[in-house]
Amino acid sequence: MSVRICLAGATGWAGSELARGIARSPDLTLVAAVSRTHAGRVLGDVVGEPRLECRVYASAAEALAQPCDVFVEYTRPESARSHVLVALEHGAHVVVGTSGLTADDFAAIDAVALKQRRGVLAAGNFSLTAVLLLKCAELAARILPHWEIIDYAHDDKVDAPSGTARELAERLAKVRQPTPTVPIDQTIGPRESRGATVAGSQIHSLRLPGYVISAEVVFGLPDQRLSIRHDSGNSSVPYVDGALLAIRTVSTLIGVHRGLDAVLDLG
Ligand SMILES: NC(=O)c1ccc[n+]([C@@H]2O[C@H](COP(=O)([O-])OP(=O)(O)OC[C@H]3O[C@@H](n4cnc5c(N)ncnc54)[C@H](OP(=O)(O)O)[C@@H]3O)[C@@H](O)[C@H]2O)c1
Repeated sequence: MSVRICLAGATGWAGSELARGIARSPDLTLVAAVSRTHAGRVLGDVVGEPRLECRVYASAAEALAQPCDVFVEYTRPESARSHVLVALEHGAHVVVGTSGLTADDFAAIDAVALKQRRGVLAAGNFSLTAVLLLKCAELAARILPHWEIIDYAHDDKVDAPSGTARELAERLAKVRQPTPTVPIDQTIGPRESRGATVAGSQIHSLRLPGYVISAEVVFGLPDQRLSIRHDSGNSSVPYVDGALLAIRTVSTLIGVHRGLDAVLDLG
């Protein structure tokens, strides 16, 4: 049986690519889309995919009048929480791609999801290779106590460190704290030359033309090094396969689960 999906943010950079991915998937059907600008139109006309015959609605509440199994949230942090809550109240499982929800938001969502006995799968990065960067780095950190992170991005990226570099540091902190041979506060010279300390890891952010987005963690032992690096391109294609996997598996969960590895069989 086909999984029926309602996609909020279906006309955006990430959502439109996902909508086209759903159109190519025989086991998935997009039954409703949300975008204020394109409300009333057929989604396929907006995103250039004639197989997408569903309507675009101005709000999640209107779109959810079409029965669906999974609601996908790909809008903005300001609207995401209320969209997710209304979808759960309608009995849908939820996949959250939108970044920027707070711990409070997830706590409120978890309470409703548990009450409704529905799954919520949230991932700040649905790219399969980015998930593997996190998992491989976690595995290495169990054995190797020394590491630093390098965060590469295009010159006009205003925030630093990147979300992926920050998430990497936070995940590694759950394994252990790295042990620099010279404590950072005993550095002789500008403290900044040792990078930013995030969750105990040193992160060095480069912002230069010629880069898109990459994150690298370098582990060191005497006379040997291991580098694990993730590079993404300019398009939103890398996020489609992971989001489709999340849509197909979220109904096996109850409550909030963070990270695509919640449904990846990584042993
Ligand atoms: N998890 C991942 O792998 C991943 C990958 C890429 C991006 N993201 C995140 O996904 C989110 C969307 O990114 P994007 O680059 O696709 O943004 P975008 O291009 O600006 O698209 C936003 C979409 O949401 C709709 N929207 C915005 N506010 C809305 C509201 N209040 N009610 C209903 N619809 C609304 C927009 O349509 P209207 O303006 O017409 O309403 C549009 O369709 C961001 O948080 C981004 O960080 C996550």
